[in-house]
Amino acid sequence: MPVNIIVGMQWGDEGKGKIVDILSEHHDVIARYQGGANAGHTVVINGSKFVLHLIPSGILREGKTCVIGSGVVVDPQSLFAEIDQLEKGGVNIAGRILISPRAHCILPIHKDLDRASESDTSQKKIGTTGKGIGPAYADKTARIGIPMFYLLDDKKLESAVHSMLMVKNSLLTGFYSKERMEPEFLLKEIRSFIPKLQPLIGDTRSALAEAMKNGKNILCEGAQGTMLDLDHGTYPYVTSSYTVSGGACVGLGIPPGKIDKVIGVVKAYTTRVGEGPFPTELTDAIGAKIQEEGHEFGATTGRPRRCGWFDGPVARYATEINGVNEIALTKLDVLDVLDKLSVCVAYKVDGKVVENIRDDVSILEKARPVYKEFDGWKSKTAGVTEYSKLPDKAKIYLDFLQEQSGAKISIVSTGQGRESTIVKNK
Ligand code: GDP
Ligand code: IMO
Ligand code: MG
Repeated sequence: MPVNIIVGMQWGDEGKGKIVDILSEHHDVIARYQGGANAGHTVVINGSKFVLHLIPSGILREGKTCVIGSGVVVDPQSLFAEIDQLEKGGVNIAGRILISPRAHCILPIHKDLDRASESDTSQKKIGTTGKGIGPAYADKTARIGIPMFYLLDDKKLESAVHSMLMVKNSLLTGFYSKERMEPEFLLKEIRSFIPKLQPLIGDTRSALAEAMKNGKNILCEGAQGTMLDLDHGTYPYVTSSYTVSGGACVGLGIPPGKIDKVIGVVKAYTTRVGEGPFPTELTDAIGAKIQEEGHEFGATTGRPRRCGWFDGPVARYATEINGVNEIALTKLDVLDVLDKLSVCVAYKVDGKVVENIRDDVSILEKARPVYKEFDGWKSKTAGVTEYSKLPDKAKIYLDFLQEQSGAKISIVSTGQGRESTIVKNK
């Protein structure tokens, strides 16, 4: 009855959706543990593309149960839009989604505040997705948020909305000089989605405990990536949740001792969306080439993703902090066209060589990468499904990434589709 965790090892968009889809085949329950509709997980099946934001990617495998845990922040509007999209795409979701009563709601005021803080010139711009993530988690932590179980008790809901707006309206009108939000407006909005939401709310923690007792296989789906973790990422340029594997235990209520395996997903190069340090970023023609070949545009916001070389210290850090047992390496095929490749093995900071990421992450702002160069393989790995069929130079590159990361690569992805996957030692 394994409980496995999928975690992003970089700054998000590593291809977690595709890997979750592949591994879902062998799991009964797929559970999201943090984040919200800031995520964009793309899965391509027989040429049809699905982009999941809130719902676990396991929804695309018939009959699998999908859990949205207490650590997730749920925007009901976004959830219903996603359910509509899935149903239009022929996916039967009836009875397959269970949302924790402890998961907090993202409300229109959270999105207003997210946008207001991003456009306020006196504050650091983070480059958020504008989905209200930070403000919703802030309210949860300040104990003025709206968890799902308030929706089931109208008196509690009304009083909580009034209290929350007392605090939030002073911020909106005072600090941001925006219009206040009336409690009646917000309550009407919330009450309008309760009938549709109510049937999806259920005790996810007990359901997962029961599943474990009955020997079911559970796959915990992480969103974003290690370097965006609130505590362990490149603060303040992070998201507002715990993206690391430990977040799965908190965000789902699974005891740490029940976790069997942590599978880290890492791209064969690096991307980042939004602001913040990115030591291996390429602002030249090679970066543009990778962006073009990898179609590196955000699945949620459409923003171009910044591209750069593979960062060994980031991968090592992710392996260590998440306890990564195995790596799924994605997008190898994107590098097929390059003459030369570089891998960052360490940084130079103020003239000193720094091999590993430490808690003083601000040094990443001035870190200069130390590179090892590789010959490109200049042939097609796209669509390859057997490791032995990869060009020798690609194998040399992969071996080096494995050595740098400190965990074995067990899956290599060579294209968007399910079928373009190498599973080593099946
Ligand atoms: P996630 O947020 O980690 O799930 O990643 P995204 O879905 O945001 O971004 C990854 C993108 O790369 C998606 O468009 C995937 O379809 C695509 N992708 C995943 N694996 C591969 C691969 O091996 N090769 C190529 N060319 N594309 C891939
Ligand atoms: P998936 O799950 C890449 C980034 C934003 C911004 C920062 C904070 O698809 O990998 P937020 O809206 O969360 O407050 O934004 O985090 N970010 C992501 N970057 N992939 C994601 O999700 C991301 N979710 C948030 O760009 O820099
Ligand atoms: Mg994504």
